[in-house]
Amino acid sequence: MIFNAFDEIINNFIDPPLKPSVDPRYVLSDNFAPVDELPPTACEVEEGSLPSCLDGAYIRNGPNPQYLPRGPYHWFDGDGMLHSIRISQGRAILCSRYVKTYKYTIERDAGSQILPNCFSGFNSLTASAARAALFAARILAGQFNPVYGIGLANTSLTFFGNKLYALGESDLPYAIRLTSDGDIETIGRRDFDGNLSMSMTAHPKIDPDTGEAFAFRYVSMPPFLTYFHFDASGNKKWDVPILSMVRPSFIHDFAITKKYAIFTDIQIGMKPIEMINGGSPVGTDPTKTPRLGIIPRSAKDESQMRWFNVPGFNNLHAVNAWDEDDGNAIVMVAPNILPVEHTLERMDLIHALMEKVTIDLSTGMVKRSPISAWNIDFGVINQAYIGKKNRYVYAAVGDPMPKISGIVKLDVTKGEG
Ligand SMILES: [Fe+2]
Repeated sequence: MIFNAFDEIINNFIDPPLKPSVDPRYVLSDNFAPVDELPPTACEVEEGSLPSCLDGAYIRNGPNPQYLPRGPYHWFDGDGMLHSIRISQGRAILCSRYVKTYKYTIERDAGSQILPNCFSGFNSLTASAARAALFAARILAGQFNPVYGIGLANTSLTFFGNKLYALGESDLPYAIRLTSDGDIETIGRRDFDGNLSMSMTAHPKIDPDTGEAFAFRYVSMPPFLTYFHFDASGNKKWDVPILSMVRPSFIHDFAITKKYAIFTDIQIGMKPIEMINGGSPVGTDPTKTPRLGIIPRSAKDESQMRWFNVPGFNNLHAVNAWDEDDGNAIVMVAPNILPVEHTLERMDLIHALMEKVTIDLSTGMVKRSPISAWNIDFGVINQAYIGKKNRYVYAAVGDPMPKISGIVKLDVTKGEG
């Protein structure tokens, strides 16, 4: 109660007026309003029937705060909630469940939020210092132990090594299970026999032919980027620290080809100094030249890593990549965020331009060409083509971002939307 009272004082008397990007009255309105958990519930068939041959589940992840925020809140700050539709024997069952992360469970038992919001919590110098002190006090009092993870598992789902995981890039994967009656169960946080530490990207890439999973983590302390992979059975293999990443960068996604893993070192980075001054922990550096780094997929170290400057190219997501020209070139398809400085605070002002980026490995030349004029992101492809040349991309149309007004099917070979 004492801690919560201090929290109220910070929210009501120390926080400056909230900007729209972190004002929950705006951020959680309309389509983004939080929803409750829903136990497995049979759906009514309004018209027609579900073919009996359809047997499977569609499941998705997204932020959904357990408690209505009383202070600043960003879209990325919510607890992960999974929504599934299980279709089997002509019936459909809908279910919504939180990922039972350590944070979610501790806060559920406490009856209130304990961990400060990451993206929005640093609203001013005084408020951020007060929140840090309050959280430290909660840790000292035994309310929260960060060793068990601070993640929200709110970003994505992945399936490899015959297991389903809910992911958020600030923590380890949480293993998930769909029960036969359509419920979603959290099995637990996974460190892969002690071989995976700290965190893992929410966008690993699974090779459809080998079953291997490729991933990485990025942190604010050296090594800023670490590349690794899992074998087809889901066993975590060796870490490859990327020491040629000389400052912390916001690396949300990457791509693989059959030969390489491809990273983009973009202009958005972690800014611990700005955070101390009350700014966001993540910000844009206009003086930095974005670059693409390629490393052989099976590399044991970064000795064969090569970097290529790509001025003006800042992607958060990567759709796909492949080897071309007898291995002398690499092609990556990814949306370029324009202008990049609006990424976190004014998502509604950004235009995501889908581009094809070609790296000539013999000359080092990088060629870029837009393949659609639409404002599109969150692109997906037929998963059988991950790392291989593909033709179609399905992407969400921003109207403006993050509101989505439709889906566009893009033919990469024709370059038309
Ligand atoms: Fe993402």
